[in-house]
Amino acid sequence: MKIDMKKFAAWFDDRLALTPIFKYMTKKEVPQHEHSFWYYTGSSILLFLFIQIVTGIMLALYYKPTLEGATDSIGRIMTELPLGWLVRSVHSWSSTFMIALVMIHLLAIWFTKSYRKPREATWMTGMMLLVVSMVFGFTGYLLPWDDLSLSATKVGTNIPMAIPVVGKWVTQFLRGGDDVTGDTLTRFFLFHVCILPLVIFAILVVHILLVQKEGMSVPLKDEIAKKKVPALPFWPNFILREVVIWLVLLGILLTISLMFAPSLELTADLMAPAPEGVKPEWYFLFLFQTLKIFPANMGPVTGEFVAVVLILIAVVAIFFLPFIDNKPEGKKGKIIAYLGVAGVIYAIVFSIWSLL
Ligand code: HEM
Repeated sequence: MKIDMKKFAAWFDDRLALTPIFKYMTKKEVPQHEHSFWYYTGSSILLFLFIQIVTGIMLALYYKPTLEGATDSIGRIMTELPLGWLVRSVHSWSSTFMIALVMIHLLAIWFTKSYRKPREATWMTGMMLLVVSMVFGFTGYLLPWDDLSLSATKVGTNIPMAIPVVGKWVTQFLRGGDDVTGDTLTRFFLFHVCILPLVIFAILVVHILLVQKEGMSVPLKDEIAKKKVPALPFWPNFILREVVIWLVLLGILLTISLMFAPSLELTADLMAPAPEGVKPEWYFLFLFQTLKIFPANMGPVTGEFVAVVLILIAVVAIFFLPFIDNKPEGKKGKIIAYLGVAGVIYAIVFSIWSLL
């Protein structure tokens, strides 16, 4: 039977609406100005998310989410499977790269004030993506089931306890009981490989659609001056530049993963006392240190309660930032930019303090 390739291609085009998508890509333009570089941060996060999915599926083929099997299965991945140690290393480093880039993306948008009208919802879905990315890291940290990951999870899941009324329930829900046990491991595995991927995709689709709907923002001063900003075609110019950045990032990721592969400690002992120097992942360090500096009791409430409430207020305020900073060109807008600088300095100083 002879297949008519032209007819075959037309059939695909008709069913999948490829021509309109391609036409949209060729018509789409990206503003070119002194802050254009930051546009590449969003798509670079997508690169690391893609790497997380591919390496995560490869690891899940052999990982066993049980008390008896977890550490051994990772040991097997690292020693028996061809390049298994590298796949694990890339998965671990790529998560660090992804979260670092999400933070850089957020800060770039904070300082260029791209969250201003009409991009408020893009910012809010972005904040959700930041939280989901951090929960991905938190749930993944327990999966090797060694002493350090067990203790860090005990500390982390204990924090909601400080919240009155719902706190105890949240902790029990996360742990699958009163303590961190094998049920917690099963739960964290389910969150990590099933629930969180579904959630991140749902939010990501909305985030990207909003970016397409509004187009990329131009610098605030050009918008106020109603200046026409030059533009670069999305296809092929912008995409080709993006590919160059992806290749560089991929090279750095592979080099670091080859040189600094994560180790594997002994299986966690549920009865053993917490080891010295329990530390969460680097992106939680400043929050961890914030909790530590509060005294045990502050009048009728615990210091931890005050700290958790303050952190929650800060997160809610950042979530609604586009509405708080509703006149970005005014004095309030300048103060909010300085608050961003203060926030970065705070996070760096507190993280180093926690490490010391
Ligand atoms: C998994 C995490 C995320 C992914 C994959 C992602 C992806 C993207 C992409 C591809 C773009 C278009 C290119 C660009 O401007 O860089 C974008 C734009 C944007 N993102 Fe994100 N993003 C994420 C997290 C965030 C976070 C944490 C925020 C802020 C809280 C945020 C707020 C925005 C805003 C406001 C824009 C529009 C920027 C403009 O028009 O200039 N995103 N994002």
